[in-house]
Amino acid sequence: MKVLSVASECVPLVKTGGLADVAGALPGALARHGVEMRTLLPGYPAVMAEADGGRARDLGSLFGGPARLVEGRLGDTVLYALDAPHLYDRDGTIYAGPDGRDWPDNPQRFAALSMTAARLAAEGTDDWRPDVLHLHDWQAGLAPVYLSEMDATARVATLVTIHNVAFQGLAPASLMDVLRLPRTGFTPEGFEYWGQISALKAGLVYADAINTVSPTYASELLTQDFGMGLDGLLRSRQSKLCGILNGIDEEAWTPPYRNARGKAKHTRALRDEFGLPEREGPLCVVISRLTEQKGLDMLLDALPALLDGGGQLALLGSGDTRLESAYRDLAAAHPHVSVRIGYNEALSRRMLAGGDAILVPSRFEPCGLTQLYGLRYGTLPLVALTGGLADTVINASPAGLAAGAATGLQFYPVNADTLTQALVKLTTLWADRALWQKMMRNAMAHPVGWDVSARAYADLYASLSKTA
Ligand code: ADP
Ligand code: GLC
Repeated sequence: MKVLSVASECVPLVKTGGLADVAGALPGALARHGVEMRTLLPGYPAVMAEADGGRARDLGSLFGGPARLVEGRLGDTVLYALDAPHLYDRDGTIYAGPDGRDWPDNPQRFAALSMTAARLAAEGTDDWRPDVLHLHDWQAGLAPVYLSEMDATARVATLVTIHNVAFQGLAPASLMDVLRLPRTGFTPEGFEYWGQISALKAGLVYADAINTVSPTYASELLTQDFGMGLDGLLRSRQSKLCGILNGIDEEAWTPPYRNARGKAKHTRALRDEFGLPEREGPLCVVISRLTEQKGLDMLLDALPALLDGGGQLALLGSGDTRLESAYRDLAAAHPHVSVRIGYNEALSRRMLAGGDAILVPSRFEPCGLTQLYGLRYGTLPLVALTGGLADTVINASPAGLAAGAATGLQFYPVNADTLTQALVKLTTLWADRALWQKMMRNAMAHPVGWDVSARAYADLYASLSKTA
């Protein structure tokens, strides 16, 4: 089975969120299940640095400049970099300019990625042609439309994975010809979305199958509250939709200790690093994008319950400037809160190692990876009962405790009051040292790797393949 995975980000080359971890881990995880996965990425500078000097194929002109497909390596697997400097060789982030605003030509930048994916599937390279296109999020969403125009849908199957339905890749209808989209597709049954082109909707309509990154989010997506305007379409395609839980790369995320006792020195080191005083109470960490999705505004309201109960907070994150300054102000005013604004993977690992608990109060969460890191590190997750957070944490409810199975805490409905109650409960649980350590052992034993889910993807590809 040959699969081309198409994504806008991928570790270790370029990352803004969990999608990069998933795209980076899948090829290795699937190789163990007999799937040869190769990965197509936009040729950002960090990607071209990896592919530089590799075998290249001329793709002619693509949206106003020359483009090439350059072969490189991604771990033990093959990487295809779409080298198109006029689209990707820029300062700023991969999605936005230095002013923080989305690049105005993002529709072209990711249409180019999608078109190249379709071409690779239709024509193949000298020696390789995928049976399945695995397309991640809106940035790859137009590929099935282009593929349908190339008359290759009879041979190549397509799977679209929704990592986050909040990002839909809208573009003005006036770009239809520029993006070389078929006008016949611009209908409510096609890729039109309230007068605009929607790259995600295109993928959901044209793909052979759709999945998202947890079973609970798969059912939430069918509701008005979570579907973000695409719930009706997803309900109509429900038989093609499933949830496959993300895993984490267990080798890349191994705690520097084997058991609860080994954690203590890392907790001391973390307090030092964050300038937090010694205290008899749980040291909580947050590692997150600071956005509406992540519910960290609710945490601001609920935090007194943690601090009054003897707890502390160390937060690492960046994003919404209002939230960044609210947390900075809080840290300035409170000795038991310390904040680092920025993105820092090495620090995030030290926080996982040193923290007692990791807080993930998201309003919605397709899967979430930091609670999985938390489990692996015995850093107990306190999470909202939604999406992948519901599927991965076993709540310290009376039943969860009685069964001796609890790995963390969940709160529901998701609001500041229930979060407050959960934080109070966290401090109480922490004070029962034997119970807390039992939960740590449960958490560290909970399977968080890719094994089960990689098999689920392999089975799904096999069921879709048109060439078998
Ligand atoms: P999302 O993709 O919605 O941001 P996930 O939990 O799936 O949420 O993935 C987030 C990833 O980004 C995790 O690997 C997390 O550790 C990492 N991350 C988020 N913010 C930071 C930060 N400020 N510094 C380092 N890593 C971060
Ligand atoms: C998205 C989601 C997150 C998920 C990640 C990887 O960024 O917000 O919940 O874990 O994709 O699938």
